[in-house]
Amino acid sequence: MNQPAPSAADSMPGIKIIPSVLPADFARLGDECQALELAGVDRIQWDVMDGRFVPNLTFGADVIAACRSTVSTPFEAHLMIEDPDHLIPGFVNAGCQLIIVHAEACRHLHRTLALIKDLGASAAVALNPHTPLDTVAHVLDQLDMLLVMTVNPGFGGQQYIATMEPKINDARAMLDGADHWIDLEVDGGISSSTIGGAAGAGANVLISGSWMFKHADGLGAAVTELRQLATEAWTTRLA
Ligand code: DX5
Repeated sequence: MNQPAPSAADSMPGIKIIPSVLPADFARLGDECQALELAGVDRIQWDVMDGRFVPNLTFGADVIAACRSTVSTPFEAHLMIEDPDHLIPGFVNAGCQLIIVHAEACRHLHRTLALIKDLGASAAVALNPHTPLDTVAHVLDQLDMLLVMTVNPGFGGQQYIATMEPKINDARAMLDGADHWIDLEVDGGISSSTIGGAAGAGANVLISGSWMFKHADGLGAAVTELRQLATEAWTTRLA
């Protein structure tokens, strides 16, 4: 999963546009995955919620496993679950190539990330809006990606928290200090009007749920528009 490290601060990273399945038709998830693959997404994010870490409940590994064979697009599992260690193997076995855990939900984060890597998956940590970046300062060597949340997790369709942009910028600077490239993902309220701020602050992996699924011209047009806007924002950032 690690890209060759671009000379961290001054070259265009790979832009990844990733849908959240939260707004998808849960009665037709396999078909929805195929539509997303056709639309040209880079990965598909599964929002796993346990009703404890977040005030909402979605699905487990079995639902993801049922959709695995419908597409070849990589899957990532965003585990919004308390104390995830015992469930992580199930999500890797279900076909998720990347596992995102919340720092706030892991009592022993270093051990949890080692578990993910030992299972052969890529590892990422998500930080809620209130959680400081230095929470992950001592596990950068284990990270393939950092997720900075721009909403409080639990629901789609929430408003983008623009005050997270300085945190995104600081996160990119922190990750540039690592000895390998670490993707920076943003999740929550990403649309044509907010992606410029998030990508311009340093995010290269962008999650969109409700805006992408509601796009008047369909998923393909939505993916293309978001990719173009993110690329433009990075071009300005690097100028
Ligand atoms: C929050 C979820 C949402 C979702 C994206 O727990 O993680 O952020 O993925 O939803 P939108 O794009 O509708 O904010």
